[in-house]
Amino acid sequence: MAEIKRISDPAEVQAIARQWKKEGLSIGIVPTMGYLHDGHRSLIHRACAENDRVIVSDFVNPIQFGPTEDLDKYPRDIEADTKLCSEEGVDIIFNPAPEDMYGAEGSFLTSVAVDKITKVLCGKTRPTHFQGVCTVVNKLFNISKADRGYFGQKDAQQLAVIRKMVKDLNIDIEIIGCPIIREEDGLAKSSRNKYLSAEERQAALVLSRSLRNARKALEEGERDADKLREAITAEIKTEPLSDIDYVSVVDAETLEDVSGKIQRSILVALAVKIGNTRLIDNFSFEL
Ligand code: PAJ
Repeated sequence: MAEIKRISDPAEVQAIARQWKKEGLSIGIVPTMGYLHDGHRSLIHRACAENDRVIVSDFVNPIQFGPTEDLDKYPRDIEADTKLCSEEGVDIIFNPAPEDMYGAEGSFLTSVAVDKITKVLCGKTRPTHFQGVCTVVNKLFNISKADRGYFGQKDAQQLAVIRKMVKDLNIDIEIIGCPIIREEDGLAKSSRNKYLSAEERQAALVLSRSLRNARKALEEGERDADKLREAITAEIKTEPLSDIDYVSVVDAETLEDVSGKIQRSILVALAVKIGNTRLIDNFSFEL
């Protein structure tokens, strides 16, 4: 197997991708912000199984962070990330600096915005977040010339937004959604779990526990969206370290709130602060 290349220059990655396309090779892209864990690994593993060549981007994208968010303290470990990618058989780990992606301060003038479904759930408290995500993901698709892009269900709204952007803009790429990978005790794996103290780590289990109970209720026939939302909210409130951002039951496709009787496939999603760390989790329920 060829050795993994770590490249920071977008033009260099694009030139290699151009050559691969000429040779008729398929390309997979796995966009990440690094500090890779088993959740990322599952996407990378699948991308390597399904494509001739795989590019993993490892870039803490400044334009998707709000002014009071954790851009500066977001964890990074490019050596460990390179090792993980190399073990999985990745061809290129693309690790640009912000100026490689956005040029000198004030020189980048373009953005990609998806309306409506970016205004709900996480978009309510993070109003510029998805515009930052869509812009960087577009750039990554163009740089990598990928046939397939791999995204986790962990960020269910992000996945829905990217699918919509690809559809609306006729971007020639297949989007592959991959299941949430969890710790043994249920906590969804996340680079941000590193911020949690031992006590907070224990408290954080209330997210996955409340969702597990909600799923059980649905499986046992519960169809009242409001009751479901109330039960999850009540359970999270029993945890003193928690502070709810949202607990939502929404239409799986439009992300519009569902109230009363559940008659279509839904996404049950929540964002909760545990201490200073904002965590998200969700599940989908098909009808
Ligand atoms: P990041 O948070 O690093 O996540 C990269 C990808 O890994 C996303 O598609 C995310 O959904 C997936 N992922 C994270 N944790 C997961 C888990 N526990 N199980 C399954 N998949 C998981 O999401 C981003 O970066 C950025 O917004 C990005 C798309 C790279 C744009 O900057």
